[in-house]
Amino acid sequence: MRVRVYSTPEHVARVLAHDIVRRLTRNPRLVLGLPTGRTPIPFYRELVRLHLAGRADFSHATTFNLDEFVGLPASDPHSYRAFMRRHLFGFINLPARRAHFLDGMAADTDRECLRYERAIARAGGIDVQILGLGANGHIGFNEPSDALVAHTHHARLRDATRRANAAFFRGRLADVPHEALSMGMATILHAKRVVLVATGASKARGVARMIQGPVTPTLPASFLQLHRYAEVWLDGAAASRL
Ligand code: GLP
Repeated sequence: MRVRVYSTPEHVARVLAHDIVRRLTRNPRLVLGLPTGRTPIPFYRELVRLHLAGRADFSHATTFNLDEFVGLPASDPHSYRAFMRRHLFGFINLPARRAHFLDGMAADTDRECLRYERAIARAGGIDVQILGLGANGHIGFNEPSDALVAHTHHARLRDATRRANAAFFRGRLADVPHEALSMGMATILHAKRVVLVATGASKARGVARMIQGPVTPTLPASFLQLHRYAEVWLDGAAASRL
């Protein structure tokens, strides 16, 4: 895996945003896979800044979000769709019809997951998949387990993951959904380029295991070792155990 270390989370965000905008300029039809969580917030802020400065045009781009909670309508402020509106889509010129999300309210979730896989294929696959890292080594909502589900699927969240997400629900753990829809590891590994971003000391152990440990479903992020072109972008704190 190609590892890049920068001094601060803001520095990571700045360089990554410029990198993505450069690719977007070269290929205006870029297809991006996007994460939620605290980690990408400075990166999204930087993309917005570049767009407002006239340096990033998203009018021909396509995005696919990694995951979504089950049971939250798009209008719920805690949905990942609302998160993306708040941090990125509300400020850039990406056409709404090309910002793809899993529908956490779908009556038939298997069918919804299949629809998503097909939509990704129809878009020609994901050019750059950006990822965060769960402190327990999860990616999207591919939780540590004896076995992983390859494609987009209905997942049950671990307590640790629900606790980590509680901050987005005003600290109310009981409000955090127990289930989500998520791209699977194969969906993620099919992206032409994978960029995992991790910042802060709480990620240092997972980062070290992901890069230096064996490939194991007990640390889903370790599967990124199998990708032909996986990059790991870190700040000094997240890189401190390497
Ligand atoms: C959630 C998301 C993941 C994200 C992870 C880490 O569980 N489903 O996609 O990578 O949290 O979040 P954070 O960046 O806040 O540490």
